[in-house]
Amino acid sequence: MRSISRIGELREALAPERARSEIGLVPTMGAFHPGHLSLFDAARQAGGLVAVSIFINPAQFGADEDLARYPRDLERDARLAEDAGVDVLFVPDADEIYPPGFDTWVDVGELGSLLEGAARPDHFRGVATVCLKLFEIVRPARAYFGQKDAQQAAVVRQMVRDLDLDLQLDVRPTVRDDDGLAWSSRNAYLSLEERTQALALPAALLAGQEAYRRGEDPVPVARRRLGALTADYLSVADFGGPTLVAAVRVGTTRLIDNVRLDEEKSA
Ligand code: PAJ
Repeated sequence: MRSISRIGELREALAPERARSEIGLVPTMGAFHPGHLSLFDAARQAGGLVAVSIFINPAQFGADEDLARYPRDLERDARLAEDAGVDVLFVPDADEIYPPGFDTWVDVGELGSLLEGAARPDHFRGVATVCLKLFEIVRPARAYFGQKDAQQAAVVRQMVRDLDLDLQLDVRPTVRDDDGLAWSSRNAYLSLEERTQALALPAALLAGQEAYRRGEDPVPVARRRLGALTADYLSVADFGGPTLVAAVRVGTTRLIDNVRLDEEKSA
């Protein structure tokens, strides 16, 4: 595996590869867990070159959010990526992606202003901008995203369509720990007690999904099951199909999760 931090060097390394095989890109912010590994696996199974980016994108964090304490462990990530068969790890620093004077942004429409976008203004502008830059730098045939961030996947899909980007998106199911909690880098912030409380989130989404299948409104059912957890939002949105989405606070940690309502087995 090659680890590269400069855009120019990455382009040079990928140019001859592109002629030989298709490039699959998995954009990440590091702190790898089984959710990330499932995307590396999907990219590897496609058979081409697997590129993974690690960039904790300052543009998608609000001023009062967790940018400074976001988990970082590049050595561990590089080991996990290598073991997963990743070919190229792109690890730019912030100045490489946003050099002094950087001043052009992707203006995400309505999809970027509801739910997560309402709670986190400018979040999806930051996500879309960095994804567009990564797509241009790597020029992958396919890019892999997780259903865990359903609205993010929908925003990126909309951008690919609206800007005629020449790549396929592959959105993969949410990977959960044995207790049902979706893997997230932010789970590391939870105390043991908070982690137990957090399990009400996947339980509520499942209860909502079952209610939907019985022909009931999933939202009040899920809300009841959330119990003492405070929801930033809990609603049904059309993210590539009807999706029950929620963001909750457990102590000072904000967690998001979702289930598709129209699928046999939930993500
Ligand atoms: P990050 O949170 O590191 O996630 C990278 C990718 O892993 C995203 O596509 C996310 O949806 C996926 N993912 C996270 N948890 C998952 C889980 N439990 N199961 C399946 N997939 C999971 O999302 C970002 O980084 C950033 O916003 C990024 C797209 C890199 C732009 O900065």
